[in-house]
Amino acid sequence: MLMPNNMTGHAPPTAAARPQQQDAYVDIAGLDKIYPSKKGGDVYALRDVDLSIRRGEFLSVLGPSGCGKSTLLKCIAGLEGISGGKLLVRGQRVTAPPEKMGVVFQRDLLLDWRTVLDNILISAEFLKLDRGAYRERAIQLLDKFDLAAYAERFPWELSGGQRQRVSICRALLVDPDLLLMDEPFGALDAMTRDELNFELQRTWLETGKTVVFITHSITEAVYLGDRVVVMSRNPGRIAQTIDIDLPRPRGLEVRETPAFGQYTAQIRATFADLGIFKGV
Ligand SMILES: Nc1ncnc2c1ncn2[C@@H]1O[C@H](COP(=O)(O)OP(=O)(O)OP(=O)(O)O)[C@@H](O)[C@H]1O
Ligand SMILES: [Mg+2]
Repeated sequence: MLMPNNMTGHAPPTAAARPQQQDAYVDIAGLDKIYPSKKGGDVYALRDVDLSIRRGEFLSVLGPSGCGKSTLLKCIAGLEGISGGKLLVRGQRVTAPPEKMGVVFQRDLLLDWRTVLDNILISAEFLKLDRGAYRERAIQLLDKFDLAAYAERFPWELSGGQRQRVSICRALLVDPDLLLMDEPFGALDAMTRDELNFELQRTWLETGKTVVFITHSITEAVYLGDRVVVMSRNPGRIAQTIDIDLPRPRGLEVRETPAFGQYTAQIRATFADLGIFKGV
């Protein structure tokens, strides 16, 4: 259950289950992604991107609108083909969605005619797994994300934050190793966002998943990330990668510390150098 008093960090989640391996889990080198266009020329959505993501790492990806964040995520997810370079997940070239992957999309993509529980069970159906075998886990996830009372309700009866929690439950249903999240909290009010940030950190610490988390928020990127990848646009590139050396678990109050402020200032300075002020 979500417990607001846990958000202070006084009742921290355990880091016991977090794996410590440092091997490359997602290996990207010289990646280009071009969207062909009949009008006005081709769009270089990604240009010469090098990125190595460690197993168990929480990687935040930060950048202005149109810099290629969603494109990068869709390429890793095997939902977009690449135009050049190398993209491996667990050592395998990505030509289709990798196994053991969950995605939370920028829009929540819930089906309004299915109950919350049935929306979560879509993940099992999609992989042709036995729905019945995952029902109990779906109910456990709903309970963990404070949605136990909503299993038989419909998405249109939920708030924005509740809908996003359902999307996260859906992505977690088949216990993926790799969790790709595209601005999952972008449309939420600040308090709900704080709550879900803390909850996501807790889930990650408990399960040791590799997470790629896209956001427009510098604060969110630093709070959650082991590393923050800062992207620039036209074409979409990695401008900077910053290690976030703040102890875990991080209570929300870490955001008021000088060390945290140094990271956010450093990232703001990078955006200023790049001439990017809007939208971040
Ligand atoms: N399917 C597509 N066909 C053509 N161009 C596309 C397509 N998808 C994205 N683009 C272009 O590629 C660039 C990168 O888009 P992308 O959606 O990856 O950006 P983003 O960083 O996720 O932006 P936002 O923060 O607004 O979500 C943009 O110029 C966009 O117009
Ligand atoms: Mg996007």
